[in-house]
Amino acid sequence: MGLVGESGSGKSATSLALMGLLPATASTEGAVRLGGANLLALDEAAMRRQRGSEIAMIFQEPMTALNPVMPIGRQIAEAVEAHHPKLKRSEVKERVLRVLHDVALPDPERRYNDYPHQFSGGQRQRIVIAMALVNRPKLVIADEPTTALDVTVQAQVLTLLRRLRAEYGLAMIFISHDLAVVGQVADRIAVMQRGHIVEMGEAAQVLRAPQHAYTQQLLAALPTMTTDRTRPLASVAPPAVS
Ligand SMILES: Nc1ncnc2c1ncn2[C@@H]1O[C@H](COP(=O)(O)OP(=O)(O)O)[C@@H](O)[C@H]1O
Ligand SMILES: [Mg+2]
Repeated sequence: MGLVGESGSGKSATSLALMGLLPATASTEGAVRLGGANLLALDEAAMRRQRGSEIAMIFQEPMTALNPVMPIGRQIAEAVEAHHPKLKRSEVKERVLRVLHDVALPDPERRYNDYPHQFSGGQRQRIVIAMALVNRPKLVIADEPTTALDVTVQAQVLTLLRRLRAEYGLAMIFISHDLAVVGQVADRIAVMQRGHIVEMGEAAQVLRAPQHAYTQQLLAALPTMTTDRTRPLASVAPPAVS
């Protein structure tokens, strides 16, 4: 599922709500159903067990998602230990190395004890993805996972996420302000504007025949091979203040 909408439309707030991570001052209503259970009805301890094992999140900025003063192998190991306290250290390490292989981080055995700053931006995002996947969640929420990366690395990470989705049998909510990026990964697309989902449907359908004026504007703002480069691109009109 791709969730798209311009910056400030409430995409991250939505994903935090799904994870039960909104600040205590926020009020929520409705239900969040995962495998039949309503997550909003769980107490904090039960929600903590879900988080990381059933639902995991990949954040936009890998440098802030990682602890700069802890070796990357240990950070992922802690994510395993939090949900599997009885595993032997050697078994934990085995799981960490396997997931680092799965995200195609080069030479994980040798780099297990390296720190985040010793990796490139793309490698750091692979490490963050490994941490999200290590406990084999059913659902991964990826909030702008490629926005901080340059275009070539972005394409590699998108390819990786598509492969992992198949290999790990994941459901994924892929969030981006960029409709072109969402169109490359999503089967279904939901379009968000000012805190509301204004359109939702099969990706091909939404991209080919958008029903909502806002989606049409988002599409018109995308450059294509045939865009006349001598004229300015269409921009999305700022939302009317209500
Ligand atoms: N349903 C909501 N109720 C109140 N404030 C919201 C709601 N959704 C988003 N916001 C606020 O609007 C701002 C932008 O939302 P955010 O989720 O960060 O947007 P996006 O991720 O689409 O850029 C944030 O300050 C957020 O707290
Ligand atoms: Mg956001």
